[in-house]
This record gives sequence, C-alpha cells and structure tokens, in this order.
Amino acid sequence: MKLPVIVIGDGGHSSVVADTLLAAGVTVLGYTDADPKRCGMQLCGLQVLGDDGILSRYGYEDILLANGLGGVGGQPIPARRRVQETLENQGWRFCSVIHPQAIVSKFARLEEAVQIMAGSVVQPGATIGRGSVINTAAVIEHDAFIGAWSNVAPHAVVCGQVSIGAASYVGAGATVRQGIIIGENTLIGAGSVVVKDFSGDGVLVGVPARLKERQK
Ligand SMILES: CC(C)(COP(=O)(O)OP(=O)(O)OC[C@H]1O[C@@H](n2cnc3c(N)ncnc32)[C@H](O)[C@@H]1OP(=O)(O)O)[C@@H](O)C(=O)NCCC(=O)NCCS
Repeated sequence: MKLPVIVIGDGGHSSVVADTLLAAGVTVLGYTDADPKRCGMQLCGLQVLGDDGILSRYGYEDILLANGLGGVGGQPIPARRRVQETLENQGWRFCSVIHPQAIVSKFARLEEAVQIMAGSVVQPGATIGRGSVINTAAVIEHDAFIGAWSNVAPHAVVCGQVSIGAASYVGAGATVRQGIIIGENTLIGAGSVVVKDFSGDGVLVGVPARLKERQK
C-alpha cells in the first residue's frame, strides 16, 4: 500500500487502526472527528485533523481512508458501516488494515476493507467479510465464515466451519463451537461459549450461551 491513509474517527479503535497501519509501514496523516474541539489533539503521535470536511484537501486518488469506528458489543456496528458507505459513495476508498504480526493463511479469503489486528490468526478456507474486524489475538479457524461488517473481539475463538452472519459481534474471549451457524445481527457476550445454532437478531450470553434479549 503506497498511498497515505487518514483514519476516520479518533476513539480507541482508531488508535489501534493507526498503530497497526504504522506497524505495517504505512504513512498515516492523522484522524478525522466530527467534534471541532478535538481538532489538534494527539493520538499515537498523530493529530486529529478536523472533521471529514478536511478530506476535500485531497483528491480521491491521493489518499486512502481507514475505518476507525469500532463498536463495543451492542453499539455502533451500524455506524461503522454507515459512515464508511457514505464516504465511499462520495468517491473515497477504504483500505484493509492488517498487522504484520497477524497470521493470515494465503488460503483464507479477505474481502474489502477488513481489519486484522496484532496476534490474530486466520486459517485456511476462512472468509472475512467486507468491513469486518478481527481484533487482537482472535482466532478464526479453518473454513469459518465471518459475515460483512462483523466484529470479532480480542481473544475470541471462532472454530472451524462456523458461520457468523453479517453485522454480528463476537465478544472478547467468547468461543463459538465448530460448525455452529449464527444468523445476522447477533451479539455474543464476552466469555460466552456458543454450542447451538442461532437464527440471528439477538444477544447470546453465558456458558453455554443462551438468548438474553431480542434486539429492538
Ligand atoms: C452481553 C453484553 C452486550 C450485555 O451488556 P448489557 O446489556 O449492558 O448487560 P448488563 O451488563 O446490564 O448485564 C445484564 C445481565 O446479563 C449478564 N451478562 C452480561 N454480559 C454477560 C456475559 N458476557 N456473559 C454472561 N452474562 C452476562 C449480567 O451478569 C446481568 O445478569 P443479571 O441480570 O442476572 O444481573 C455485554 O456484557 C458484553 O459482553 N459485551 C461484549 C463486550 C466485549 O466483548 N467488548 C470487547 C471490547 S474490545
């Protein structure tokens, strides 16, 4: 990746994204944030440049963007998608963010603008859907499928041949047993162990994981 990158957002996930890009030898110009009070603030030695309006200083071909919106379980995964798609519709392009110390099989399939953080492992035959995050030290085992705009939190384990539906969240340290099929918009609580298929649109918690509540 030769083009410099601007990170959209300046929260905790943004700092991990920026740090990962720097570790991969990418030039990072800074962050954007909608709040003018944050302009000029520093994060990982890089500045908040202003709101997304500052992108107009550049041409669409001159820079790439990286999505810095994370989303703790139950929160703004849709925001992450909405913001990226709005900017893509304007002509901006988002890059993938892959830490040099992530292990990604050459037989895995990475769709566009994925983020694979430090210490994570993506095994052969796995698919990581567009815009998804595989966070620090998460494991995506062989032939597992992670639907678009999903987020696998630190130290979660998605076992072989699992399918996770789009816009889902696998909480920190959770385990999804091999072959399990999870529908879209599912939130799996931190530390939970999922041993049954689930149709989607809900929160699973506990060991073994059970439906906590229906999402509105
Ligand atoms: C599942 C989750 C979304 C629930 O959040 P919440 O709606 O705010 O729920 P609360 O914390 O109010 O807890 C409600 C109940 O669920 C239980 N609960 C919450 N999270 C749980 C979990 N991960 N496993 C088991 N039980 C859990 C609580 O003990 C509580 O039980 P009680 O009513 O018997 O006291 C959240 O706890 C979670 O695990 N989020 C993922 C966080 C994560 O992985 N972050 C990674 C950041 S990098």
